[in-house]
Amino acid sequence: MNKKKILVFNWKMNPSSKKEALKLFTALKKSAAWALKKGLKLDFILSPPAVYLDAINQKNKNTKIILSGQDTFYKGSGSVTGGISYAMIKDLGAKMSIVGHWERRSLFGESNKDVSEKIKVLLGNKMKAIVCVGEENRDQRGHFADFLEKQIRESLAGVEKFQLKDVILAYEPVWAIGAGARQPVVEEVEQSLVLIRKILKKIFGEDSKKIKLLYGGSVGESNIQELSEILQLDGFLLGRASLNPDTFEAVLKSFSD
Ligand code: 13P
Repeated sequence: MNKKKILVFNWKMNPSSKKEALKLFTALKKSAAWALKKGLKLDFILSPPAVYLDAINQKNKNTKIILSGQDTFYKGSGSVTGGISYAMIKDLGAKMSIVGHWERRSLFGESNKDVSEKIKVLLGNKMKAIVCVGEENRDQRGHFADFLEKQIRESLAGVEKFQLKDVILAYEPVWAIGAGARQPVVEEVEQSLVLIRKILKKIFGEDSKKIKLLYGGSVGESNIQELSEILQLDGFLLGRASLNPDTFEAVLKSFSD
């Protein structure tokens, strides 16, 4: 295996009880400990629903698993019914948060401006941001490239160069996310990541190299190895594969082959 990879386990709105969440976490802990013992070059980030963070954090002793939120509002506290702030998840052990996931953008109408406010607040409070971007359609004429550039520019607006080491950009094309989605072809992912690196360089110059690049969307044991060969890639965001211990165990095992 080449360079060290980050694996983000995004549980999304699963599982539906604390008991199940702790069981899943125990399985993840076991797999992560196995990977560590094997000397696999992997970093683990777990993004559970915020309501389980506390219980998981209390059991996250002597592991290398870093906790993350799935979203945060852009204020520490205030009159925001239903909102969860960076300060709250930080208090429960999260070191970072996902922001701008397509499901937040599409189901909750989050704009690039919202995403940029959230990133700024996370970075300004010593947390990292896992920023999701990705086109809805991969058209043959290449319009998706313009879409990506606009989305990245607007989402990262206001981020300072010295903060880039705390930015993880996750390329998650909408067409590859979730059940029934099309599996990506390695070349497509590679092409997009090369493009994203170029866009980041245009915006931030050489400092853009500090940004880590992840890929997410239908990643599993059948394709993680070949995707890992992509030079630009620093890791993966796993959705469905993060919810089934047999599957994520198989994913990890594929790294030891
Ligand atoms: P799936 O792995 O289920 O396609 O989900 C990807 C994703 O959205 C991770 O954030």
